[in-house]
Amino acid sequence: MSQKPAAMTALAREARGHAQAPYSRFRVGAALKTRSGEIVTGCNIESASYGLSVCAERVALWKAVSEGLRDFESIAIVTAARQPTPPCGACRQVLWEYCGDIVVRMTTLSGRSRTLRLRQLLPLPFDEGRL
Ligand code: THU
Repeated sequence: MSQKPAAMTALAREARGHAQAPYSRFRVGAALKTRSGEIVTGCNIESASYGLSVCAERVALWKAVSEGLRDFESIAIVTAARQPTPPCGACRQVLWEYCGDIVVRMTTLSGRSRTLRLRQLLPLPFDEGRL
């Protein structure tokens, strides 16, 4: 089963509907796809102890990894921001470690979209190869 970028974005948008963001009011949805076509979604989930909040990208990634999925191809991210929202630094790090140079497609609710490779967002990564 392979999903086109628009379908991935639609799934990320749907996941955004489950976001728990009472503190920031910034709702994010993500959809992560494996090369064989499995898709796992995530939304940001905030805590009253702010620092425990987790981004949508990491919720999707940890869900996928915990289900035994590997070999990822792309991630779609949807927000209501004016410009497409790139993943935060912490998410870039773990996405790099578990997904490598995946395609990152960022889309706004109004339909603006930007697609980059993770390597462009994290040009000099730290990973197990540097230990
Ligand atoms: N957030 C994400 O879920 N993904 C991003 O790419 C950027 C930030 C969340 C974290 C927090 O719940 C809210 O957005 C505001 O930073």
